[in-house]
Amino acid sequence: MFNALIVEKDAEGKTSASVQQIGLDRLPEADVTVAVDYSTVNYKDGLCVGPGGGLVRNYPHIPGIDFAGTVETSSDPRYKAGDKVVLTGWRVGEAHWGGYSQKARVKADWLVPLPAGLTTRQAMAVGTAGFTAMLAVMALEDHGLKPGNGPVLVTGAAGGVGSVATAILAHLGYEVAAVTGRPETADYLKTLGATQIVAREDLAETVKRPLEGEVWAGCVDAVGGAMLARVLGQMKYGASVSAVGLAGGAALPATVIPFLLRGVNLLGIDSVMRPYADRVRAWDRIAKDLPMAKLESMVRPAVLSDLPQLGADILKGQVQGRVVVDVNA
Ligand SMILES: NC(=O)c1ccc[n+]([C@@H]2O[C@H](COP(=O)([O-])OP(=O)(O)OC[C@H]3O[C@@H](n4cnc5c(N)ncnc54)[C@H](OP(=O)(O)O)[C@@H]3O)[C@@H](O)[C@H]2O)c1
Repeated sequence: MFNALIVEKDAEGKTSASVQQIGLDRLPEADVTVAVDYSTVNYKDGLCVGPGGGLVRNYPHIPGIDFAGTVETSSDPRYKAGDKVVLTGWRVGEAHWGGYSQKARVKADWLVPLPAGLTTRQAMAVGTAGFTAMLAVMALEDHGLKPGNGPVLVTGAAGGVGSVATAILAHLGYEVAAVTGRPETADYLKTLGATQIVAREDLAETVKRPLEGEVWAGCVDAVGGAMLARVLGQMKYGASVSAVGLAGGAALPATVIPFLLRGVNLLGIDSVMRPYADRVRAWDRIAKDLPMAKLESMVRPAVLSDLPQLGADILKGQVQGRVVVDVNA
């Protein structure tokens, strides 16, 4: 028997989450069984621990879109007992049972070997949020961003994606401007390497003019909505925005003028279905370009029973940095 956070739905459609003991026979059929060390909390986890957000297919459900741990058994030749592995995405924790559990059973195709130089705890301090932040930075680099081009904007900076993006960009030598709606996080963001703090309200409203002054050499955007529309009109000529998230809304009230007159690029970033080769490349870059002391400064530790509250908090934008869940504590 082992512990897992189980979400159940009652006859009225209301969900509730609690830590329960279950047996291995309850896990879904798949080729690799993993003893989970750590998981984490992303925005999507908030939805899956709580109302479901249209992501969870069946109840009872075990959320947790990320986990890192040790292979116990594998019928796939790529993995053997004792291997350290990381999982992010593939709709694990949404359509499939996830990492808020001491054991998980998944397809070998979904796993990545733990990159050299990272512990399972550090991998979950990164999690989907950090992995996606690295994909976003890599996309900007692939489209010509270099230190010295000018300031790079990070929106939703005190959140998970934003915190890791800020730390990576600063480590790579970029000047980072961090947008936050929580002024009290300014010192935290400066510790991560931000040199400029931009108040959320400065970018929250749409303006009639489709183009403003050219300010940003690149942008990692976790917010979307009106803020993304506004930022597009402030990009330097030929610069790119990595569109990662929708914490501020899914609608994009923008014009095409920044694309046509300034050659601005809007780059879509998906972490969930990302091919294996890209995953390995991104995890290797994380091991190399994310300073571990800064990563540790973002971490708040948690246990399985903290997850219902943390899930509600992240949906309200109240979680700072990255939560690491010790599923065995
Ligand atoms: N594309 C992908 O594959 C992928 C992967 C991971 C995450 N995501 C998405 O990326 C976004 C961020 O994820 P996360 O895990 O970093 O979540 P998070 O920790 O909650 O961070 C989101 C941050 O956005 C800001 N924010 C929240 N509500 C806002 C609003 N109404 N207007 C403006 N800013 C707001 C807050 O930052 P401040 O307090 O600093 O303002 C908040 O901390 C989510 O939408 C998530 O679904 C996408």
